[in-house]
Amino acid sequence: MTALHDKTFRAIAELMHSSIGLSFAAHKKPLVASRLAPRLQRLGIDGYEDYLALIAGDDDQGEFQVAVDLLTTNETYFFREPAHYELLEQELARRRPASLRVWSAASSFGDEAYSTAMLLADLQTQGRIGDDWSILGTDISDRVLRSASQAIYPQERLRNVSPERLKRYCWRGEGEADGLSQMQPKLRERVRFGQLNLCVPIENIGPFDVVFLRNVLIYFDPPTKAEVVDRVLTQLRPDGILFLGTAEGRVPCRTPLKVLAPGAFRKVAG
Ligand SMILES: C[S@@+](CC[C@H](N)C(=O)[O-])C[C@H]1O[C@@H](n2cnc3c(N)ncnc32)[C@H](O)[C@@H]1O
Repeated sequence: MTALHDKTFRAIAELMHSSIGLSFAAHKKPLVASRLAPRLQRLGIDGYEDYLALIAGDDDQGEFQVAVDLLTTNETYFFREPAHYELLEQELARRRPASLRVWSAASSFGDEAYSTAMLLADLQTQGRIGDDWSILGTDISDRVLRSASQAIYPQERLRNVSPERLKRYCWRGEGEADGLSQMQPKLRERVRFGQLNLCVPIENIGPFDVVFLRNVLIYFDPPTKAEVVDRVLTQLRPDGILFLGTAEGRVPCRTPLKVLAPGAFRKVAG
C-alpha cells in the first residue's frame, strides 16, 4: 500500500478543518491513513494524492461525504453520562413543561436522542411533562443518520437501559436479528434526524428547550469550539439547558451560561 506523505496528510487535514471543523494534529496521520486505506483499495486508487484530488474536486461523486463518514468518530451508547439524564429529569419535574423541544446536535447513531425519548416518554406517562414533545437529531455523517432512522441497535450499546425500559420501548430481534433491538414506533414517531454541519452558519431550527452537544467539541480546535457553542446556543431558549461532554470542560463562549453541574449549563435569560 502506498504511503500517506506529510504534504498530502496536511492537505486532507486542511480540507476537513475548513469544511467540517475537524482538527487532525500531526500525530493523527497514521489514523487518517488507516481509515482511508481500505477505501482507496476498493476504488482502485493508487495514492492518497489521487484520493485527495477526488474529494477536493468539484465532481467528487459523493466521495467527500464518504471520506467524512470514514474520518469522523461516532462512538456513542445509550444513557452515556447518566448524571445528565438524572439532572434533566429533576429540572423537568420542577419546570413541568407543557411542551418540549430537544436537539441532539451531534447525534451519531441516535443513541442520545432515543435515550432522551425514553426518559421523556416516562415523564409524560407520569404526568410530569405534557404530551407535546419531540427530539431532533443531527449529524454531519450520512452513514450514522441512515442507521439512526432505522433505530436498530446492538444490545451491547443498550447496556445502560433498565430492563423495564427495554421491555417498554424496544423490540428484541430473533433469528438473524438476534443480538439487535429496535426502538418501538411510540419512540420513533417522536424523533427525527437530519444532516447539519455545526461548523457553518445554520438556519433557524429552534428554539429548543434542551440541547445536547456532547463529545463532538473534542475534535475541534479552541476557536472552532467557541464558535460552534455560540452558534448552537442561538437555537436554545433563554433558561434552556445545554449539555456538553463532561470531558470537554467549560468552553469559552460569548453567550452567558450558568453552571448547573459538570457539563450541564443553563442559558442566562435576557
Ligand atoms: C463521538 S460522536 C458523539 C455522539 C453523542 N453526542 C454522544 O455523546 O454519545 C461525535 C459525532 O459528531 C459528528 N460530527 C463531527 N463533526 C461534525 C460537524 N462539523 N457537524 C456535525 N456533526 C459533526 C460525528 O459525525 C459523530 O457522529
